[in-house]
Amino acid sequence: MATIISGKELSASMKAEMAAAVKEFPAKYGRAPHLVVVLVGDDPASVSYVTGKAKASAEVGIRNTTIRRPAETGEAELLALIGELNVDDGVDGILVQLPLPKHIDEDRVIAAIRREKDVDGFHPLNVANLWLKQPCTLPCTPKGIIRMLQRAGVEIAGKRAVVIGRSNIVGLPVAKLLLDANATVTIAHSRTRNLPEVTREADILVVAIGRPRFVTADMVRPGAVVIDVGVNRDPGTGKLCGDVDYAAVEPLASVITPVPGGVGPMTIACLMENTVECFLRKME
Ligand code: GUN
Repeated sequence: MATIISGKELSASMKAEMAAAVKEFPAKYGRAPHLVVVLVGDDPASVSYVTGKAKASAEVGIRNTTIRRPAETGEAELLALIGELNVDDGVDGILVQLPLPKHIDEDRVIAAIRREKDVDGFHPLNVANLWLKQPCTLPCTPKGIIRMLQRAGVEIAGKRAVVIGRSNIVGLPVAKLLLDANATVTIAHSRTRNLPEVTREADILVVAIGRPRFVTADMVRPGAVVIDVGVNRDPGTGKLCGDVDYAAVEPLASVITPVPGGVGPMTIACLMENTVECFLRKME
């Protein structure tokens, strides 16, 4: 039986600690931190993520403004909105929910966010500094994953880590953080040949490929630590499920994260942390 890392519990304790600190901010700095979330369109998953971010903000005492724009919003209009938020001294963090509608260039939008307000850690300068080991805002999901490993007492140094997925949001940055923690890291993906052979090498397996129950028992070395970043709808039941076949893999693993209640809530807690950090950098 594996140790199950509850992201739900760990994120709750992170949020409670932050709430205690944030409560003092109005007296200390004149106001609470302010996070602005921009949502373009009405993709149901994005709406649900944005709602989760607003709820967590309330729990921590962060002021949250969610700005919704229709899917037809033009890129220039969105860039103008970001320009206004960039120069608004009362805004500490700006998050543009991804994915954006196809007619909008995501890279251009992310680059337009003032780097000091980039709570996602997606701005090119934050990405560059991550890879240069310079101070930066870390992307929320990778940051949350490392926190979970630390909390579970997983030793990373010297271990074989395999990351399935190479996205800018999760795969690439989590691989870099594992490398910085002295793991030997392989980045695998949909085109990797003999994938089960590669993943069976992993002491730590991070799965962010976005396919329901993609990782099966034959792909996991007994005793491995398995981190499931997937958020999928089960095609049959419509229920939330991860990228890992949990029922089959859990008995093999030494440590595993559930879906829901694993990485997801940690991402949001780390977003709250990044918002507080951006606020404090400005105020201190
Ligand atoms: N869409 C999926 N994950 C994320 C995230 O971490 N940040 C933003 N802005 N959009 C996302």
